[in-house]
Amino acid sequence: MIKKGIILSGGMGTRMSPLTKAVNKQLLPIYDKPLIFYPLSILMLANIRDILIIVNKGQLGQYKKIIPNGKNLGIKINYIEQSSPRGLPDAFILGENFIKKDNVSLILGDNFFYGQNLTQKLVNCTKLKRGAKVLLHKVSKPELYGVAKVNNSNKIMKIIEKPKKYFSDLAITGLYFFDNKVVDYSKELKPSKRGELEITDLLNKYKKNKKLSADYIGRGGAWLDTGSIEDFYKTSSFVSAIENRQGFKIACLEEISFLKRWIGKKEIRDQIKFYGKCEYSKYLEKIIS
Ligand code: DAU
Repeated sequence: MIKKGIILSGGMGTRMSPLTKAVNKQLLPIYDKPLIFYPLSILMLANIRDILIIVNKGQLGQYKKIIPNGKNLGIKINYIEQSSPRGLPDAFILGENFIKKDNVSLILGDNFFYGQNLTQKLVNCTKLKRGAKVLLHKVSKPELYGVAKVNNSNKIMKIIEKPKKYFSDLAITGLYFFDNKVVDYSKELKPSKRGELEITDLLNKYKKNKKLSADYIGRGGAWLDTGSIEDFYKTSSFVSAIENRQGFKIACLEEISFLKRWIGKKEIRDQIKFYGKCEYSKYLEKIIS
C-alpha cells in the first residue's frame, strides 16, 4: 500500500503573472477554494495521509496560513522549500528523507481530477508494490503534455514530453505512483535541453526495465488543466456548475476526512472557527448537523 504522497506545488506561475507575482499559483482560487485543496483531496481520497508539500522558496508562510498542519484534517503535512523549479523528479530528491524506504505517489499542485469511480481507481493504484504507474487521459492538444503511446494489450510503447509531432492523444496526467527506486532513478537523471529534470525521462527508466504500467481516467472522468488564466476560469466554472447543481462540494477536505472517520465534530468546529463566517463554513456546519 502506498501511504505517502508528495504534492509538487512550487513553480513560478509565470504564465499567470501578474496574478502570481505576490501569491503562489496553487493558492489562487478555483471557484470557492484554493487550487491546492483539489490535489490534496485526491491524495486523501486515495487514503494517503502522510503528505509532503513542496513549495517555492519564500512561500512557506503563505501556505501555512491556509494549511498550518494536517491536524484538523486528520492527516500529517510536512513542507519543504524548493529553491528553483528544477523539474518534477526533483520532488523525489528533495523528498528523500520523507520517502525513506517506502513507495510514494506524486501529484502536481495544479492538476484537477474529478469523476465517477475515481476513488476506487485511486485506491487500486496505491496497491502498487513494484514499478511505476501512470494515469492516462485522452486530450485534444497532446503537444502540451507528456504523451504515451500504448499497444493493444495496454502496454506503454513510447513516452515523449510535449511532442512536436503527433503520435498519440493520450496525455500522462500529473498523478504518479512509484516504488522506492524512484529516489535513485531521479538522482541519476540529467537536465534536459530546457534545463529541467523531466518526469518523462524518469518514466522511461521504468519502461526500459518493463516496470511501467498505465491506467485510464476514462471518458466519464475529468482531468482539467490549470496552466493558464483561461484554464483557471474554465475549471472554476466546472466546479461551480457541479457544486451548485448538486449541493455538495468538490474537494472539501474536512468532509472527506470526516466521512473517513479521521476527524470528528470537534475538528470540524475548530475549522469553522478558523475559516470564519463564510459559505465554506456554512457547508461544514451542515456536515455535522
Ligand atoms: O499536467 C501534467 C503534465 O505536467 C504532464 O503531462 C507532463 O509530462 C509534465 O512535465 C507536466 O508538464 P507541465 O508543463 O504542466 O509542468 P509544469 O512545469 O507546468 O509544472 C507542473 C506543476 O509543478 C506546477 O504546478 C508547478 C510545479 N513545479 C514544477 C516544476 C518544474 C514545481 O513545483 N517545481 C518544479 O521544479
